[in-house]
Amino acid sequence: MVKIDLDFVEGLTLEERASLVSGKDFWFTAKVPGVDRMMMSDGPSGLRKQDIDVAPADINSSVDAVCFPSSALTASSFDDQMLFKLGHHLGVAANAEKLGVLLGPGVNIKRSPLAGRNFEYFSEDPLLTGRMATAYVKGVQEEGVGVSVKHFAANNREDQRFTSSSNIDERTLREIYLAQFERIVKEAHPATLMCSYNRLNGTLNSQNQRLLTDILRNEWGFEGLVMSDWGAVADHVAALKAGLDLEMPGKGQASVDEVVTAVKEGRLQESTLNRSVLRVLKMVEKWGKDVNKKEPYDKEEQHEFARQMADDSIVLLKNDHHQLPLKTSESLAIIGELAAKPRFEGGGSSHVNAHHVVTPLDAAPASANYAAGYSLTTSTSDENLTKDALQLAKQSDRVIFFAGFPEQMETEGFDKKTISLPRNQNELLAQVVKVNPNVTVVLQNGSVVEMPWADQVPAIVETYLAGETVGEATWDILTGKVNPSGKLSESFPLRLQDNPTYGTFDRDHDEEDYREGIFVGYRYYDLYEMPVRFPFGHGLSYTSFDYSDLRVNEERNEVKVEFTITNSGNVAGKEVAQVYVANRVSRVVMPVKELRDFVKVTLQPGESTAVTLSLPRRAFSYYNVAKQQWEADNGAYEIMVGSSSRDIRLTANFDLTIGVSPLGEITADSYIGDIWNDQDPQVQSALKDSGLYEVLKPMMDDEQWVAISANMPLRSVAATGIDEKVRDKFIRLVRDIK
Ligand code: BGC
Repeated sequence: MVKIDLDFVEGLTLEERASLVSGKDFWFTAKVPGVDRMMMSDGPSGLRKQDIDVAPADINSSVDAVCFPSSALTASSFDDQMLFKLGHHLGVAANAEKLGVLLGPGVNIKRSPLAGRNFEYFSEDPLLTGRMATAYVKGVQEEGVGVSVKHFAANNREDQRFTSSSNIDERTLREIYLAQFERIVKEAHPATLMCSYNRLNGTLNSQNQRLLTDILRNEWGFEGLVMSDWGAVADHVAALKAGLDLEMPGKGQASVDEVVTAVKEGRLQESTLNRSVLRVLKMVEKWGKDVNKKEPYDKEEQHEFARQMADDSIVLLKNDHHQLPLKTSESLAIIGELAAKPRFEGGGSSHVNAHHVVTPLDAAPASANYAAGYSLTTSTSDENLTKDALQLAKQSDRVIFFAGFPEQMETEGFDKKTISLPRNQNELLAQVVKVNPNVTVVLQNGSVVEMPWADQVPAIVETYLAGETVGEATWDILTGKVNPSGKLSESFPLRLQDNPTYGTFDRDHDEEDYREGIFVGYRYYDLYEMPVRFPFGHGLSYTSFDYSDLRVNEERNEVKVEFTITNSGNVAGKEVAQVYVANRVSRVVMPVKELRDFVKVTLQPGESTAVTLSLPRRAFSYYNVAKQQWEADNGAYEIMVGSSSRDIRLTANFDLTIGVSPLGEITADSYIGDIWNDQDPQVQSALKDSGLYEVLKPMMDDEQWVAISANMPLRSVAATGIDEKVRDKFIRLVRDIK
């Protein structure tokens, strides 16, 4: 291949260069003399490589590929290594299929449980999302396949996704909606980012210079390529100027002509075009492959990994009186059509032509009996199906009830209106528990479900969209072949109405106002101390874990958190220990606590392990909008270590000193009370040396007036008769010292 540099770019004709900044078609970059085309394909949980000889009309006609669990489930693993391995397997498959770039993962935040694409995203929390996706991207790219991380940014709703504006204040944008992208860009160096369809605070993301250039490149140092989501470009020339490099898919000759004309008319500088052309060519140079040279790869091994991934992620939500694992001697009734026709993958661009689907019915013990109980194509109960199911439930020791959202309820391209299960499923379950109380509910769904029946059943297992090994993995957990270790990556509210976006989400056709600010998910439920059905980070095990010996120490610009976990039960198991930080010092609105680290450990019965985690300064920081930077304030914090966000086992208070003063710089606007109480020895000596101490002392000693005096700024002290010269001397002295 030729040497790709600016000289090469400048040697191409204007037409050739214009052709490169748009896709040749749905999946390919354009070809120019010396540089071949490069193919890209979805998707996040298995390849959706469309047959290149078939028109792209049928979204579901793609090559045979292993369907891994969707991100809603893989995030529940809280396991960076598993995500890396998932990336590895996807990379191996993409490499064999000769793909240059894999379109995914999607890393948008689950802001509303109604958002249609939640199944494809990782979490309501940016740290968890960022960690899972970083590991995934590294895994894929190590196999020589580039990743396009999507959808940048704040694409949290599907309805009107091409035009609606996500209106978000700066701090919320940085802390909740950009933080995961920032981590992935800085740590995993993805080949490309895919800009989202929506507008952000009024500006279309494909034309958003602040997002695509100022923040992404200038602040975060991104050196890869930015491509558009499919059809996200409204004004190609404006997009190129803003920092978008590749319009996907291309519009054929029209895409070329509009760029050529813009250059000729002086509306687009050639240097801007050349910059993007160079990025496209560099991408093809690094990741491109010859699509005609497909190779075989081991799909059985990938199937086995898909099963392990699901095993590692399925969440045991409830297990009263050790209902699970099942005992082999008991007779089982399997009820629910989802056992035979499982919902195991997401729709739209996530859809995979699965290699080998094993349904829960296929994998069930031979002695179990089955009744469909309800139909997935309707929400109306069927008398005959109900009768058969009740009959079977009555004559069995235990019932495994499969419930969930049928595919028509949630997929890419629209949002949900409800998070209730279809009526026929809820009605049947209510009747089943009356004839047999030993019911385990197994859920298959892309996102949060309301469970009004939760108190009536002793066991609930959340399998989300578990991939093609759904059947094997479900029974691995039910039978205890695998001890569950997944934890929820999102809060399950009692009712949809409890969610912070209730009543505002998707109500306005054009504008989506993020009124809840940083209070998304558990940050909101914690603030209002609201009961939830299952909290963020929750997940049970067949064993138990004890936590002890928490120690927190500041060391060389980091905070070391050490503790011990012991498996105090009878079987081997894995535990996800979660570290939350509560900020007690900053003078800005703060969540009650935020997830700042986690670790998954494997322990034999009786075994203990000492865990050491290092929290960087960023773990104590908030985004200071006035200063446009992340800032950690010195002072009091609480470190909480827990088995879930609502099951905190250990806490420690400590004072951070590697940050800055929460009081900021002392100016004439500083408050007397703050200055008086500032323990900084330098402030104290300036008080004394300037003479301000003598003046303020009587005011601060006067019990009747102290509250009022403390609440006045220095610049107003003249009103109290204090000499301005003393005040100014104090400010001068403090500044000199600092
Ligand atoms: C989706 C992307 C996807 C692309 C290509 C779009 O509709 O939003 O996630 O990668 O199509 O299939």
